[in-house]
Amino acid sequence: YTLAAIVPAAGVGSRMQHSAPKQYIRLAGKTILEHTLAKLAQLKQLTTIVVAVSDDDPYFATLEFIDQRIVRASGGKERADSVLNGLLALADNPPDWVLVHDAARPLVTLADIERLLSECINADEGGILASKVKDTIKRGATHSQQTVPRDDLWQALTPQLFKYHDLTQALQTALAQQVTITDEASAIEWANKPVKLVAGRSDNIKITTPEDLDLANFLLQKQHS
Ligand code: CTP
Ligand code: MG
Repeated sequence: YTLAAIVPAAGVGSRMQHSAPKQYIRLAGKTILEHTLAKLAQLKQLTTIVVAVSDDDPYFATLEFIDQRIVRASGGKERADSVLNGLLALADNPPDWVLVHDAARPLVTLADIERLLSECINADEGGILASKVKDTIKRGATHSQQTVPRDDLWQALTPQLFKYHDLTQALQTALAQQVTITDEASAIEWANKPVKLVAGRSDNIKITTPEDLDLANFLLQKQHS
């Protein structure tokens, strides 16, 4: 099989409240985006790593991490638009499978990515890394109305792995119909195709708010030591 990666990195990071988009914050010696790209670059079977970056982003061109397989694509309005732009950048020579991974998840381990690849490709089904919900979950606005049974609840992580044509078609159709798409799996579910849940490490966090930075810094240092 052939495999490419798409890294949506065109967000503004509004919840981080930092001057530059959060993927350019430096932790443990390099930017979050460079940590993420360095993880993916360890996968020798990737033919291309498409990074979706905003057209007016002045930072991407200054990154030090270089891998010959990295190509830049234009970001879109929402994350799903950025991913679709990345997919379309591969349309001339489409891979069999695409691995979509958030720029903001530098803590992913190679072992988890390898397990996602082997479980999904062996089953010939798309799938995602996910971790079982650990906390007791409440539903309500100002007061808890209900405790939600959590035995079948998972937190969706990335990477998410799907067949190129399945994902491109599902995203295009869902976006055209204004369906809310927050990850690749939501588009595939909407297209009534299977999404395998592959248990991954819960410390593969999406760096989102300022309090995530100390934890991410600690975990990155630990991975490098
Ligand atoms: N992303 C993207 N294009 C967008 C929006 C988001 O490529 N239009 C990317 C982000 O750069 C990030 C990933 O999708 O790597 C996950 O999105 P999120 O964590 O929500 O990042 P931001 O949208 O940048 O943050 P916020 O929602 O707080 O503004
Ligand atoms: Mg966002």
